[in-house]
Amino acid sequence: ARLDVTETFHHISFPGHIHTQDSLNYALHFQFQDRDTVIATYPKSGTTWMQEIVTLVKNRGDPQLSKTVPNWARAPWLEQHYSAKVLEATQGHRILTTHLPYNLLASALQGSKAKVIYVARNPKDVAVSYYHFHKMAKFLPEPNSFDEFLDSFLEGSVSYGSWFDHVKGWTSQAGVLANVLYISYEEMWLDLQGSMERISSFLQCPLVGEELTNSLRHCSFSSMSDNAMVNYTQIPKEIMDHSKGKFMRKGIIGDWRNTFTEKQIGIFDTVYSYQMKDCPLTFMWE
Ligand code: PPS
Repeated sequence: ARLDVTETFHHISFPGHIHTQDSLNYALHFQFQDRDTVIATYPKSGTTWMQEIVTLVKNRGDPQLSKTVPNWARAPWLEQHYSAKVLEATQGHRILTTHLPYNLLASALQGSKAKVIYVARNPKDVAVSYYHFHKMAKFLPEPNSFDEFLDSFLEGSVSYGSWFDHVKGWTSQAGVLANVLYISYEEMWLDLQGSMERISSFLQCPLVGEELTNSLRHCSFSSMSDNAMVNYTQIPKEIMDHSKGKFMRKGIIGDWRNTFTEKQIGIFDTVYSYQMKDCPLTFMWE
């Protein structure tokens, strides 16, 4: 059975089992605090990885929190129905996660000094990862072929909307938002230590010696795959069916080459160059 009721909000569909009109409106009118850290991503772009990195950085490499509290409880998604409750119980610095496009958070973020980390990933790899996630996540529609899924991805009719709008919206804020760090999944993958140093200095928590080596160890793909607080194996089968795949699936760059046909590459590249022609930032995969 699928739980794929959708909640449509500002023309974007959201999985209904974790989002309500109230929870989405709560995010829209959220009161950010200057000491908040906000992780913004399109799905499957490195969200969980960044939640782990920020948790480790804030705890100076001590994995205690990462190993005992689920990611969604220590870095709640603003727009999901439980976030208000989780945040009420949070003391001190907050880590917030969001998959919302920039335009929906623009007025809440206006004038805020909250630190925003935006993670983007090669959209071809995002599409492949998202496709596999649709097979196991019962709150998303059961996908047919990859070809069909790719069409929906390119036209932006999948859950959380268009990848292009998401990336263009958030990157257009370079120089506008007071505190924003742009980083890509690829950059993290190719140079985790350099990325960790960038992130920790952005968060004004530079790591030294063992703090850094411990952080690097605990946010590796193998360590996170074994951590029940981030690998979603505790989630009931009715919501995420691990017989259909793993949340920590492959964790590599360029996996799209094993899935895309020549024809799909052609279509994708045409849409990409049209959609991204005015984007102010360039990415590693371009
Ligand atoms: S979600 O559902 O939006 O929160 O998913 P998200 O966390 O953004 O993306 C999941 C993909 O990130 C990979 N991942 C990692 N890759 C490398 N290193 C680490 N530590 C890591 N943690 C998560 C995860 O495997 C998913 O990618 P795919 O390509 O499907 O493996």
